[in-house]
Amino acid sequence: MTLLTEPNTAAAGAFRGRRLRRTASLRALVRETRLHPSMLMQPLFVRPGTGVREPIASMPGQHRLSVDELAREADRLLQAGVTSVLLFGLPDTKDAEGSGAWADDGIVQRAIAELRRSCGEDLAIVADVCLCEYTLHGHCGVIRAASVDNDATLPLLARTAVSLASAGADVVAPSAMMDAQVAAIRAALDGDGLAQTAILAYAAKHASAFYGPFREAADSAPAFGDRRSYQMDPANGRQALGEIRADLDEGADMIMIKPALPALDLVAAARASTTVPIAAYQVSGEYAAIVAAAERGWLDRRAAALESLTAIARAGAGVVVTYFALQAAGWLREMDR
Ligand code: PBG
Repeated sequence: MTLLTEPNTAAAGAFRGRRLRRTASLRALVRETRLHPSMLMQPLFVRPGTGVREPIASMPGQHRLSVDELAREADRLLQAGVTSVLLFGLPDTKDAEGSGAWADDGIVQRAIAELRRSCGEDLAIVADVCLCEYTLHGHCGVIRAASVDNDATLPLLARTAVSLASAGADVVAPSAMMDAQVAAIRAALDGDGLAQTAILAYAAKHASAFYGPFREAADSAPAFGDRRSYQMDPANGRQALGEIRADLDEGADMIMIKPALPALDLVAAARASTTVPIAAYQVSGEYAAIVAAAERGWLDRRAAALESLTAIARAGAGVVVTYFALQAAGWLREMDR
């Protein structure tokens, strides 16, 4: 590709790409993508109890935290320059409808209140809105006539969002992939005096094999069937852009694409065709794959993690949700010195 603004040196045989790669200082000078701790969002799992830091077997380095430990982790994140968290809950009990999701004294609601108390406005608190961690059957909506009923689920998601926002969440992030969930949540928030609560819509969420480790972490694997009647077919890109358009029309303030590396084309396409902030979620399986290979000595953990995060940012994500957030912030600080 020859741009009019550039001399056509290649044609003259004079192209020397290596000139600007010769030294570390030149490479730093012309680097197009820079990661910063403040663009990283750390997902955290909160569970009942006190003083609990329970390792997650499928995601080495990640833990299920009781509320008090969560607050300490948030403090560590802020110290490292990571200013946002995405919260998931493991409730005491589950039921058919997932009522733990909207309980005012629910596990995530209590976590949000504590983080708000301990971190004030320094921390952007984002709460996932879904039912799969709270339903006995593990699906993201309610079951009617043996299938996940879209419209019966909407009021429950709306109620959950209002409850999480009332507890103090800055942002609610609906991930259930029910049609019209963003509109239902926006209307409910506005109707409850929560017009300032933002919505980060998981707009393009593929039915991905890379969520496996998360479902162990959050105890949210479906008890029967799979999620392919609501999450998107990974083969579809145009349809993903349609989902993004629909969520923006319904009032989403930001959109999320998930998983990240398998969907970089969608990140780039979304960046080119919208003006809102775009988040990409480097999901549990993407994290676990790098960590497992590094444990075997097959990959350099730090280099592979930073390369993947940089690629996600290069594709156009301004917000990168990643289980490496805390660690990557430390690496970035070291590289600054
Ligand atoms: C809830 C939800 C899931 C993830 C984020 N929100 C699980 C799923 O859809 O099965 C996956 C995140 C990850 O794998 O890190 N629906």
